[in-house]
Amino acid sequence: MSTPDNKERVVIFDTTLRDGEQSPGISLDVAEKLEIAAQLARLGVDYIEAGFPIASQGDFEAVHAIASSIEGPVICGLSRTAHKDIDRCWEAIEPAAKRRIHTFIATSPTHMEHKLKMSPEQVLAEAVSAVKRAREYTDDVEFSPEDASRSDFVFMCEVLQAVVDHGAGTLNIPDTVGFATPVEWAQRIADIRKRVSGDYVISTHCHNDLGLAVANSLAAIDAGARQVECTINGIGERAGNAAMEEIVMAINTRPDIYSNVEVSIRTEELARSSQMVSRLTGYPVQFNKAVVGRNAFAHEAGIHQHGVLNERTTYEIMDPAAVGQGESKLVLGKHSGRAAFKDRLAKLGVPIQGDALNAAFTRFKELADRKIQLTDADLEALVHEEIGGQAEHAYELVSVEARGGSTTTPSADLVLEINGETLEVSSDGDGMIDACCTAIKNATGVEGHLTDYLVTSVTGGVDALADVTLSFESDDGVKVAGRGLSTDVVEASARAFLSALNKIARIRSSGEDPNAVERPGHIG
Ligand code: KIV
Ligand code: ZN
Repeated sequence: MSTPDNKERVVIFDTTLRDGEQSPGISLDVAEKLEIAAQLARLGVDYIEAGFPIASQGDFEAVHAIASSIEGPVICGLSRTAHKDIDRCWEAIEPAAKRRIHTFIATSPTHMEHKLKMSPEQVLAEAVSAVKRAREYTDDVEFSPEDASRSDFVFMCEVLQAVVDHGAGTLNIPDTVGFATPVEWAQRIADIRKRVSGDYVISTHCHNDLGLAVANSLAAIDAGARQVECTINGIGERAGNAAMEEIVMAINTRPDIYSNVEVSIRTEELARSSQMVSRLTGYPVQFNKAVVGRNAFAHEAGIHQHGVLNERTTYEIMDPAAVGQGESKLVLGKHSGRAAFKDRLAKLGVPIQGDALNAAFTRFKELADRKIQLTDADLEALVHEEIGGQAEHAYELVSVEARGGSTTTPSADLVLEINGETLEVSSDGDGMIDACCTAIKNATGVEGHLTDYLVTSVTGGVDALADVTLSFESDDGVKVAGRGLSTDVVEASARAFLSALNKIARIRSSGEDPNAVERPGHIG
């Protein structure tokens, strides 16, 4: 089929609900299949292979329900060559406005001998009889010689010629076991086109056993295939089928290479389709999966982040919005640079500059070295901790080591910087945190007591940041709050305590009215 711009249309034949559903461990009920089918229609696929109606009552009902309610794509059912299979297939798809029967039989020596236990002559006769039966129901009949990549070429073409002569309009060439390589597969498709005469569309259906399903599908398109069978997320038997999102985006992203073809898919629906299929099948999408993986548009290295901030295309060949992935993500981790850090804070509504930015960035790098990724919530907490501690830095934490347990007395060794001088202090305590606070009190000479102590995790999970907020009242009646953040709760506590004592130092040196400045529970 030619499109207005003289490109030939590559028909997208989605088999997520048939071959995809054959993946080990996947079993979708009728409602789930309907939900996916509706999304495939929204995505704009040309064909939905809705199932294999003879396989079970559940399969039949799902295909029937899809045929009865999904509008837009042609609804296809799969069928072996037996007439009762074809009759059942038709019964299932009959309610649809547009319908196709897809029938198949294996043509490779291994399959004919060990699975079908049929001679080549019987296989040929079965194929013809199935196509004739299917044509009694509909003009739209597809035939597949299963295990085409391991079939004898001359025999397979004899079968293909016979089914075309009896009305099959689509010849789907399956690499059932994922054995083919791209150059070889392209050659096979081109050779079929030369050898089999008539009016038919060549389709390709590639499995991913060698990780070549998408490459083989694209090679087939180069060689003249104008239908491609594929699944969302590449799910399917064993290592899966060709991933639709990858084929579609290869064609759309490289019009210079695929200059004579086009697909009609609403690519902004790809991410949503992927997430839905993953959620309903329970098959996770690998983080680095092309196009739809959550890291497909995520950048962590500082150089990359800087480039993307200046101009997205420095490190992105596709627009994430074009596949429904929103915008590029600058992941803040230990490889990130100041530009991305500042940009993220600005987006969070924290426009921080100068010394405060430098200090927050230094703390960020320290934390990122210990934590794989920092979330937005981590960042906000970190900046608030830094801003809270900016006013005065009489006391700073260099390091803390604490020991505890049921058989040893809890103790802590700290290295502090007090008014620019480095000091090592140690103390015992009722617990490791108490030992820390006592050591700090001894070193700073500030006496008083904690009136509140709260530890929360900024985000969930074992690698969450501990966020400690506390209130402290000095013996001369100054009440202040402090906040500290760390991957380690003892260190977060030491930081929170020092930030409170820094406020006391600031109040004392400025001669402010202590109780006008800070109320317990108010965290800066
Ligand atoms: O992989 C295969 O050969 C199939 C056929 C039914 C087309 O799924
Ligand atoms: Zn298959």
